[in-house]
Amino acid sequence: MRILVIGSGGREHALLQGLSADPATTDLHVCPGNAGMTGLATVHADAGRADDPAAMVALAQRIEADLVVIGPEIPLVAGVADALREAGFRVFGPNRDAAQIEGSKQFAKDVMADAGVKTARAEQLVPGTPDADIEAALDRFGPTWVVKDDGLAGGKGVVVTPDREAALEHVRAVHELGNPVLLESFLNGPEVSLFCLVDGETVVPLIPAQDHKRAYDNDEGPNTGGMGAYTPLPWLPAEGVQRIVDEVCVPVAKEMVRRGTPYSGLLYAGLAWDTDGPWVVEFNARFGDPETQPILALLKTPLATLLDAVASGTLAEHPPLEWEDAYALTVVLAAENYPAAPVTGGVITGDVVNDPSKVLHAGTARNEAGELVSAGGRVLNIVGVGKTLEEARDDAYATIEQIQLEGSFYRGDIALPAVEGRISL
Ligand code: GLY
Repeated sequence: MRILVIGSGGREHALLQGLSADPATTDLHVCPGNAGMTGLATVHADAGRADDPAAMVALAQRIEADLVVIGPEIPLVAGVADALREAGFRVFGPNRDAAQIEGSKQFAKDVMADAGVKTARAEQLVPGTPDADIEAALDRFGPTWVVKDDGLAGGKGVVVTPDREAALEHVRAVHELGNPVLLESFLNGPEVSLFCLVDGETVVPLIPAQDHKRAYDNDEGPNTGGMGAYTPLPWLPAEGVQRIVDEVCVPVAKEMVRRGTPYSGLLYAGLAWDTDGPWVVEFNARFGDPETQPILALLKTPLATLLDAVASGTLAEHPPLEWEDAYALTVVLAAENYPAAPVTGGVITGDVVNDPSKVLHAGTARNEAGELVSAGGRVLNIVGVGKTLEEARDDAYATIEQIQLEGSFYRGDIALPAVEGRISL
């Protein structure tokens, strides 16, 4: 199978690593890719923008792709999957209409209301809402405010704060971008990311993971795209995954079919596990980053064949998934000053960065001298695997010690609350 992966982050590097291990894969290509991917795939850095449907169709035609896997949300919302399907390609990733489940928080709320899925109470504030109405809306929420950019923000447009002024500031900042704001009630309880393969009404869950979204240890500092993640979740009740599938993902998949926009691809349910079970925080229309990195590290089922089953509408016939009996986690190495204004161009050293079973690249490039340099906020994802979560942590943190990038930082407490039994339901 000749496979094209669209995207350039740690998630796509993990996908390439998984796809390359499947004997069904004969040829791997990636666009635009990053500097860490050259050993696994042909990197098409100059084939056009990932969110340009015509450019991605032309590339898929040129390489005669049997399967195209779309990683990030922006090409999905831009209709790249639609254009590829119209051109006759098998595609892993939803069409534009279905990707609205991530592209518009209001759309997701409407789907959940019709599907009877539990989620936070929400109100939308469009740009131009008078100040007095914004103030009144803020009064209806709190004491913790959740303020979301109701456009595509890649998980980065959310502010969760006990400070009303900070909430108001974020409302104004999002409005200045021209996007609506969604105010939401705060959901208590630990967060769960459950990724499900969805092919119409067929829903197959992967193992559950937890992301760490704040920049610094002990969940301090600004929200980020994710600073680390681990899987599976030792504290989640045994029936947890099945409850999420039954109460959230199947009803949403059925509702998408009922609306005439059947879902095909990866449905990411971001949830809070409250006293009475799962409540939806958000949906994404793609694999999450960085949760995908540890999840795929434990998947034994051949990945290319699995994603191709979704793309060809035969997921219901696919055998059950098989997993390593282990734990995995990812620690993100971030550039100095991430997420505000990451410093790029710093030289990265350490031989281990060339081993994709331990280090997946996110924001990396080569400078004119051919050195590996940072090219984004989240630079590298260090993956650790172990029989226990503690061993997986030791594995990842031993690797990260071998990498040098001036000014970079990482969280030292990925999965630590779970290891120390500090997560209670
Ligand atoms: N893990 C957060 C995201 O993928 O949006």
